[in-house]
Amino acid sequence: MRFAGSTALVTGGAGFIGSNLVTALLKEGAKVRVVDNFFSGSAENLEEVRGKIELIEGSVSSREIMREALKGVDYVFHLATVNIIAAVSFPLLEEETNVRGTVNLLELCKDLHIKRFLYTSSVSVYGFAQRFPISEDTPPSFTSIYPAGKYAGEAYSLAFHKLFGVPITILRYSNVYGPKQSPQNPYSGVISKFFLWAIKGEPLRIYGNGKQTRDFVYVDDVVEATLRAALLPSVVGEVFNIATGKETSINQLAEKIVSLVNPYAELKVEYLPNREIDSIPRRVLNIEKARNILGWQPLVDLEEGLRKTYEWFKTQTLEDLNFG
Ligand SMILES: NC(=O)c1ccc[n+]([C@@H]2O[C@H](COP(=O)([O-])OP(=O)(O)OC[C@H]3O[C@@H](n4cnc5c(N)ncnc54)[C@H](O)[C@@H]3O)[C@@H](O)[C@H]2O)c1
Repeated sequence: MRFAGSTALVTGGAGFIGSNLVTALLKEGAKVRVVDNFFSGSAENLEEVRGKIELIEGSVSSREIMREALKGVDYVFHLATVNIIAAVSFPLLEEETNVRGTVNLLELCKDLHIKRFLYTSSVSVYGFAQRFPISEDTPPSFTSIYPAGKYAGEAYSLAFHKLFGVPITILRYSNVYGPKQSPQNPYSGVISKFFLWAIKGEPLRIYGNGKQTRDFVYVDDVVEATLRAALLPSVVGEVFNIATGKETSINQLAEKIVSLVNPYAELKVEYLPNREIDSIPRRVLNIEKARNILGWQPLVDLEEGLRKTYEWFKTQTLEDLNFG
């Protein structure tokens, strides 16, 4: 019960990672408040915790809503985000949420006595990195709107820490996967899309030649890193990669998922032209800092994580999985 007696605010708590974090915080004894405008999250993600949390429907960029939402809060977990795909179509909404929403929260927090402001960023801020595995001191490089906004949020967090002493910690998550990453959400990650297509017996659609690699990390490991980072006093002002340090190509991922869903099926893949928004050829992270300082390491390997994710898919109805 590491959070017993404390109150935690989770912005974006109706989303994929946020809803998993909410469940974990409740188990750890926290009182949990969620603010979400359901842009990409859903009330179903919070079904199992209904009645156990306070849910505020609204935007992180609203001054009034966030002032109310922050009352009596010890820990802020800031996950509300307009994601990488939506950001390209709606750059102003991305800026309003990812940048101004963050500044709004930080500005309100500077006059409060919160224990920690946990800002969730993304390893997409490294763009086309040249040295692998990518460590936290690699300079950012912006290939799209979303990483620019996520990095702006980091920069503001650090500035509010230095100027006003807001106790921030920044986590850069790699590609996260697991239960509640709904394929119905048009912005969902590759693993949930692959599961959906494999279950439907459709070809798996791959942008580019499938040789691009990513560092896939299971959501329970990400949640545990997030809890540790919020609790540890020595990590105020620090930035951590949260990943596995292992790289998997999209082609390998496709094979693993198809053989899990139907071991006798032939792998059918449809290759599509590269997408500008996420055409990075290689991504694998150095996680030594998180290992050494947070005392954290990923416990779920890709095979086990995919099995757990598939178990969740099997609990979903055909409508949930967008069979219509
Ligand atoms: N999923 C990943 O692979 C991944 C990778 C790197 C970083 N991250 C970071 O993790 C965090 C959570 O991402 P996720 O994958 O759970 O995404 P998600 O889209 O499932 O969750 C984001 C949540 O924010 C909510 N939201 C959007 N705009 C809002 C606003 N103005 N006010 C309040 N709520 C709003 C959405 O409705 C949604 O519930 C984000 O900060 C994201 O940048 C995720």
